[in-house]
Parts: sequence; structure tokens; C-alpha cells
Amino acid sequence: MLIEKLITRAAKKQNSANLRFIPGTSLKVPPPKDDTGRLLYMHVPFCEELCPYCSFNRIVFQEELARPYFKALRKEIRQYAELGYDFQAVYVGGGTPTVLPDELGQCLSLARELFNVKEVSVETNPNHLTPENLDRLVDMGIDRLSVGVQTFDDALLREVQRYHKYGSGEEIVRRLTLAQGRFRTLNADMMFNFPTQTMEVLERDLETILKLGVDQVTYYPLMISNSTRELMKRKMGDVSYRQEKDFYSRITGMLLPRYRPATAWCFSRDSGLIDEYVVNYEEYAGLGSGSIGYLGGSAYANTFDVADYIRKMGTGSFPVAARKDFSLREQLRYDLIMKLFGLSLDLDLLDRKFGVNSLKYLWPEISFFTMVGGLRNEDRVLRLTPKGQYYWVIMMREFFIGVNNFRDYCREEATGADRDAHLVTGPSA
Ligand SMILES: C[S@@+](CC[C@H](N)C(=O)[O-])C[C@H]1O[C@@H](n2cnc3c(N)ncnc32)[C@H](O)[C@@H]1O
Ligand code: SF4
Repeated sequence: MLIEKLITRAAKKQNSANLRFIPGTSLKVPPPKDDTGRLLYMHVPFCEELCPYCSFNRIVFQEELARPYFKALRKEIRQYAELGYDFQAVYVGGGTPTVLPDELGQCLSLARELFNVKEVSVETNPNHLTPENLDRLVDMGIDRLSVGVQTFDDALLREVQRYHKYGSGEEIVRRLTLAQGRFRTLNADMMFNFPTQTMEVLERDLETILKLGVDQVTYYPLMISNSTRELMKRKMGDVSYRQEKDFYSRITGMLLPRYRPATAWCFSRDSGLIDEYVVNYEEYAGLGSGSIGYLGGSAYANTFDVADYIRKMGTGSFPVAARKDFSLREQLRYDLIMKLFGLSLDLDLLDRKFGVNSLKYLWPEISFFTMVGGLRNEDRVLRLTPKGQYYWVIMMREFFIGVNNFRDYCREEATGADRDAHLVTGPSA
């Protein structure tokens, strides 16, 4: 586990440097520099109840806040159109984007009217997979529906406080079955490495997935951020990375060959299915409260406060609260991490994109991962080895923990000098 520990430590350090955002009061997103393929990410932060392990950007659903929020989202969509952006894909994440299907439908219609959208992905929860809702989601033209399952084990579902909201494992299977075949890609979000999860529970979940034959399964390792650490420790105990490695090896062992890896933690039954957006799109705009976009080599973070977001959009101003400009090496490193998360990176394409010899900048990372057996160089295409796939689970786990810590901090310290100092110095990951 020495190499894994080294990777974890280095990734933590790097992420905390990458999240040194500079706050500002009149920040705005610049117009697009070229016509590269871009994705529009929309965040819907509302959930009917909050799961204790989740450190994503979410708050308890209140209709009187959610309706003006969706309206504000539509204003932000128009802002991007006015700036001259086009988007080929839309991803609506949460929170729970399907809390108000009529509002979601209006946002998607507007995006289609203004942009050349070719694919739409939306996240949801099992309780929203009713026949009526499914018809509405199909009518909205959703191509990829991603359903949060986590586990089919009733005891574990109770422990993570999802049983009473989303039903038993059996009920979740029934609801997934209703959704199968209705979308181009039906994805099930699963989780591994809960401290109380056993190998037997994991294996039973994998058997259920194989029996169901959903198009795609994403297996997230449990990510603990600063805001969930204490509660999770009290409820479920400490996280073990040894167990994480063993679990990941069982996941790949059981899913292959029926599923092929599309990213380090997403497995698809066929090619042609829609995978995670950070891999397929070089750039993306982040709309909604707390969203982070990556455009033209800079990251833009929207205000973390939902009420502030609605207010800002109401006055027609921009909701961007902070910005981070990436140096050339940071941009190359970002592409290296995201492309390899999708399993391969073409060095010639990277050289052409940036007009430099990328190896000159990336040799420390590439030599390290090659030396430890994580990367193969096949004619200037870098490919993750099976060992490397697990290393990339660690890299992405740390990336998301870093982003979530950053959001936690900004939400808590949303006023005054403390927040500003933090934005400049970065969170302690
Ligand atoms: C952020 S949620 C949004 C969609 C929906 N609310 C749900 O619960 O699926 C998307 C997925 O992120 C994953 N997730 C949430 N919290 C996580 C954590 N702390 N560590 C790892 N994965 C997590 C879960 O698999 C979840 O289904
Ligand atoms: S896991 Fe999904 S439902 Fe649970 S709090 Fe997070 S975003 Fe909401």
C-alpha cells in the first residue's frame, strides 16, 4: 500500500494548490475562444432528505426556494447564449434534479432551443422512478438517466439512511426494471468501501447488477470530506484504503467481461453509451449555485449560497464568485488526469492542442506512473494498466474530496474576510 499512500498524499497536495481561487465581485465568464465541443453542467442542489455520507452540494428541498432557483438557472442558460456559447451536451446533476420535473423540463427545452444539444444526462433517485415520471423524463428527451442506488443491501441502506426514502433493495430493483430500455443509457450509481460493508454484501450487489443487466454501472469509492468525517466515523467507523483496494479488485473481477471499463469507475455493457462528462468534453460551463466550470484554461466557481444565486440572477448580474487561472503546466496536468480517468491519453493530440511538447511538462507524472506499473506507452498513446485503473480511482477520489472540501468551506464561511482569505490560500484537503 506504499505506492497508494504516496499517490493519495501527492494528489491531496496538488488539489489543494489547484483550488486556490481568487474571489471577486464583478467576475464574469468570457465569451468562447473557439468552437471546441463543450458541455453545459447544471446543478440542482435540492434533496428531499440529506444522506449522511454525501458531501456534494445539496440542501433540503423547499418548493418556495426551488421554483425561483430553476427560474434563475434559465436566466443563466440565456447568459451563456448571449455570450456566444454553444453546447453539444447537457448534464444535470445534484442534489436531485428531478425534484420538480416540470421545472427541469423547462430548463432542458430552453437549452435545446438555444444550443445544438445532442445528448442529455440527468441524475435521479429511485423514488422518482414512477411510471408517470418515467414517461415525463422520456418525453423530455433524456438520453442518459443515472439512478442513485448505492447498495441493494437492506441493512446497509438503513445505515446510510436511504431505506425509508428509496425503499428496500427489492423495491429499487423493481424500479430500475421499470426504467430499463426507456433511455439510451440507464446508469446505476453504486458505492463501495462503506466501513461496515463486507465483501459478501459487495458481491451480492454485484450479482444483482449482473442479473439486472443495467446498461452502465458507476462504482464510487466512499469519499469522506471535512464536513462528513466526524458523523461518518461515529455512525460507521473509519475508512480503510486496504479494503478499498480489495473491493475495487472484486468489482472489476466480477463485472468484466460483461461490462467494459469506460472510466476508472464507470463500467458499460456496450460501447456507444454515454460516459462521464469530464472525460469526453475538454471544457464545460458550470451553472447553478456552487457549480464549477472549466473554460479557456480557467475555472469559475459560482456563488455557494442558493439565495445569493437567485438574487444575483434576478438582477441580471453574473453569479461567478471566484476564478482560478491555470498555468500551462496545470492545464496539461488537468488534461492528463481527466483523459487517463477515461483510460487513455493521446500525446500527439495533447501536443497539438497546446502547441508544446507536453512530455517536457508532464514527465514527472508520466515517469512515476510508468515506473510503478500504472501506465503503458503504446506509440505515444498512454494507457492505464489494470493496476493504473486503481491508481486513477485514488486520483479521482482525492480530486472530488478536494472539490467538496472547497465547497464545504465556502458554504460555511460564505461571508467576509475569512472566506476571502481561504479562497486565496485554498482549503486544507
Ligand atoms: C451526488 S449524487 C446526486 C444524485 C442523487 N441524489 C443520488 O443520490 O444518486 C450522485 C452519486 O454520487 C455518489 N456519492 C454521493 N456521496 C458520495 C460520497 N461521499 N462518496 C462517494 N460517492 C458519493 C452516489 O453514488 C450518488 O448516487
Ligand atoms: S446522495 Fe443524492 S440524495 Fe443523498 S444527499 Fe447526496 S445528492 Fe442528495
